[in-house]
Amino acid sequence: MNNTASGISVDFAGIIMKNPVLLASGTCGFGEELSPYFDIQKLGGIVSKGLTLRPRTGNSGSRLHETPCGLMNSIGLENPGVRHFVEHELPRLKALDIAVIANLGGHGMDDYTEGASILSDACVDMIELNISCPNVKEGGMNFGIKTEIARAVVREVRKVCRHKLAVKLSPNAEDIAALSRACEEEGADGLSLTNTYPAMAIDIYNKKPVFGNIYAGLSGPAIKPISLRMVHQAARAVKIPVMGIGGISNWQDAIEFIMAGATCVQIGTASFMKPDAAVNIIEGIENFTRGQGIRNLSEIRGIIK
Ligand SMILES: Cc1cc2nc3c(=O)[nH]c(=O)nc-3n(C[C@H](O)[C@H](O)[C@H](O)COP(=O)(O)O)c2cc1C
Repeated sequence: MNNTASGISVDFAGIIMKNPVLLASGTCGFGEELSPYFDIQKLGGIVSKGLTLRPRTGNSGSRLHETPCGLMNSIGLENPGVRHFVEHELPRLKALDIAVIANLGGHGMDDYTEGASILSDACVDMIELNISCPNVKEGGMNFGIKTEIARAVVREVRKVCRHKLAVKLSPNAEDIAALSRACEEEGADGLSLTNTYPAMAIDIYNKKPVFGNIYAGLSGPAIKPISLRMVHQAARAVKIPVMGIGGISNWQDAIEFIMAGATCVQIGTASFMKPDAAVNIIEGIENFTRGQGIRNLSEIRGIIK
């Protein structure tokens, strides 16, 4: 990778990516699932499936449910654990010329800090801390709702994390600007937003919720305008860079997020509809910038005040 950002390349907290497009956590495995459809090296980066300290088998029952403009999921963080990732998946990813970001989840403070210290000894470019996980000690309340709880997690993880640290915010945050500022004050290098939105579906013939946990996370085009608003609020609240996530399905959506203040964008559900969506978005951003005479994405980043 070059060490300066120009054209559509971007500098996210010191990590130079050849373009601002990454695959979002949980929607591309460890990259190999989408590699039959396009050259993964064309991406700016990839965010790993959500990792936890120990392997998890995930939720039983329905895990995915399509809605008219989106997708609901209740995967339950199925993953092989951080150690397996470091030993078996990371070497293949690091051989690629893309940024590799490890997404880390947890159900208690120790899960986060131990997971982050293991990842700190590995050659990932950044850790993305998923704070939209239920906190077992607080009766299952998501770590990403209350500003002071989010602050405490970021503070503890920052102490052990020797990599760049991005915090992935929940759309349920009580005050998105205040919580973003708290992450910045505790030493986060960047923010990613948003994760999925709590939602519900009912199987009317069986008179039961579709999902075993009753509620599931909504993603896809339905959430895009709401996520765009939160990216705008977060980007205006902090100086650290922001990754925009949420229903980005085409290059026009990506440009909207950049104009709202995002440095990078992550593509999730769109890859389920069109596996090569991310490369089409990269090409669209390139054509748009060329056609508009934009020499660097910084010229349009955050132009919506
Ligand atoms: C099937 C599925 C699994 C996901 N798993 C994770 C995960 O493990 N960790 C995480 O931080 N986000 C996870 N997400 C959330 C996405 O990374 C992304 O934030 C969200 O889907 C919104 O983006 P989208 O509308 O482009 O999909 C998952 C989303 C889906 C659809």
